[in-house]
Amino acid sequence: MATDYFGIHVPFLDMLGVTAELDAEGRPFVSVDVRPELMNSFHVTHGGVIMTLLDVAMAMSARVSSRHKGGAITVDMSMSFLRPASGRVTARGRVLHSGRSLYFCEGEAQDASGQLIAKSLGTLSCAKRCTTARATDVLPNSIHQENKMSETNLQVLLASRPTGWVEENNFNIVTTPIPEPKAGEVLVRNHYLSLDPYMRGRMNDTKSYAAAVAIGAVMVGGTVGEVVKSNHPGFQAGDKVSGYFGWQLYGVSDGTMLQKVDATKVPLSAYLGVLGMPGVTAWYGLMDICAPKPGETVVVTAASGAVGSVVGQLAKIHGARAVGIAGGAEKCRYVVDELGFDACIDYKAGKLWADLKAATPKGIDCLFENVGGEIFDMLLGRMNAFSRIAVCGLISQYNSEPYPMKNIGSVLINRIKMQGFIVSEHLPRWPVALKELSTEIAAGRIKYRETVAHGLRAAPAAFIGLLKGQNFGKQVVKLI
Ligand SMILES: NC(=O)c1ccc[n+]([C@@H]2O[C@H](COP(=O)([O-])OP(=O)(O)OC[C@H]3O[C@@H](n4cnc5c(N)ncnc54)[C@H](OP(=O)(O)O)[C@@H]3O)[C@@H](O)[C@H]2O)c1
Repeated sequence: MATDYFGIHVPFLDMLGVTAELDAEGRPFVSVDVRPELMNSFHVTHGGVIMTLLDVAMAMSARVSSRHKGGAITVDMSMSFLRPASGRVTARGRVLHSGRSLYFCEGEAQDASGQLIAKSLGTLSCAKRCTTARATDVLPNSIHQENKMSETNLQVLLASRPTGWVEENNFNIVTTPIPEPKAGEVLVRNHYLSLDPYMRGRMNDTKSYAAAVAIGAVMVGGTVGEVVKSNHPGFQAGDKVSGYFGWQLYGVSDGTMLQKVDATKVPLSAYLGVLGMPGVTAWYGLMDICAPKPGETVVVTAASGAVGSVVGQLAKIHGARAVGIAGGAEKCRYVVDELGFDACIDYKAGKLWADLKAATPKGIDCLFENVGGEIFDMLLGRMNAFSRIAVCGLISQYNSEPYPMKNIGSVLINRIKMQGFIVSEHLPRWPVALKELSTEIAAGRIKYRETVAHGLRAAPAAFIGLLKGQNFGKQVVKLI
């Protein structure tokens, strides 16, 4: 069964009620009423409903803008982010760069309220004029360069230690030979790099729970990618793996800290976020330290971020009331409307205390603290007797002097249990956490979003943006 969408044959989509239309300005888009019971039917080409819609939208847009009339169009998309959706979804695509007969496109899908639920990048080739085109012909510059130079490795080194805010000149980008795996080792091509707040601490040379990155060394970081050569009995070429190769395109491992992952059900990048270190961090701090009871109030700071977004959704799943604190109205809207928190306070609105009192009428039983400083100090003033605080992060002071806390007396007066933790020290809890997280993601009860920077050369700027709150959800860098 195939249907003609502006001259493009897309199997089965008509059976699922997908329509191809033109908007008032003559631009093509596709729309569909996404019904949960049909979700499996959509797992056709690229792993999910939005991917398929975006395929169509991108292909249509390319067809219209390229005036390409004959031959088949094939689409090869790499997803940036995707959230489960239901109800009416519309998808549009446009050509970013065009080669002779290969187009680099982007697509977006929105739900009925206009919220962005998916964003994709991909290439599209037109078979009649072009059967052997390579994606690198038309990719944007940063990725293009990296793919072209994939006979060599690209690395981001720590060039100097920042004082205060990180600057791009604290990093040095170099090309080096691709390392050769020895006996018992594997060579991995990284597809995504994770950017995380803890990396700021590794740029300092002060006493901490982990060693500093040496000047001239590759910046540390979690990665996901594919084994390209293996001399290790446990891995073979083609295996998708998560590892800790740092800010570089290739890495060699003897298998230590290398995990095979299944990228057929969730996108590979999810293993850096909701199904990786940040997801487990949220689970551990909430379940093992805060341990909320049904009906209790859980407050989480940096609520729209990689860790915070999971904390609030897990709290809801376990019957608690979830209140987020985030920077800006858009992030707060997302936290309530998309993630299902009961309330969210925009700390930038300038009336934090009044908003906090309104959102926590029964005080706070569990605080999951990601930010520290003035916000944390104020939250201490709303804590209940025998409440719990999981001190996960203090991002507001990673680039500045510590904030002098005024309300620390609340810990004594309210007999608060307050505990800091480092998720990598609780490895026995990871399988338990990942089991619950993957179940809830599959059931659509935990949603997530990503901010994607493109190309390793974009990593320093994206990292600086993360420290300034410019990310919206998990910050990753797409490397391939
Ligand atoms: N203990 C552990 O093992 C562990 C593991 C992972 C992460 N962490 C910590 O968990 C926290 C969240 O990490 P993440 O990966 O989920 O990052 P994230 O929340 O995805 O991104 C960082 C967010 O922090 C907020 N922020 C930055 N500067 C701020 C400031 N001055 N005041 C208030 N908010 C600020 C921003 O959100 P807004 O725009 O909403 O302000 C920004 O988007 C960090 O503190 C991190 O160090 C700890």
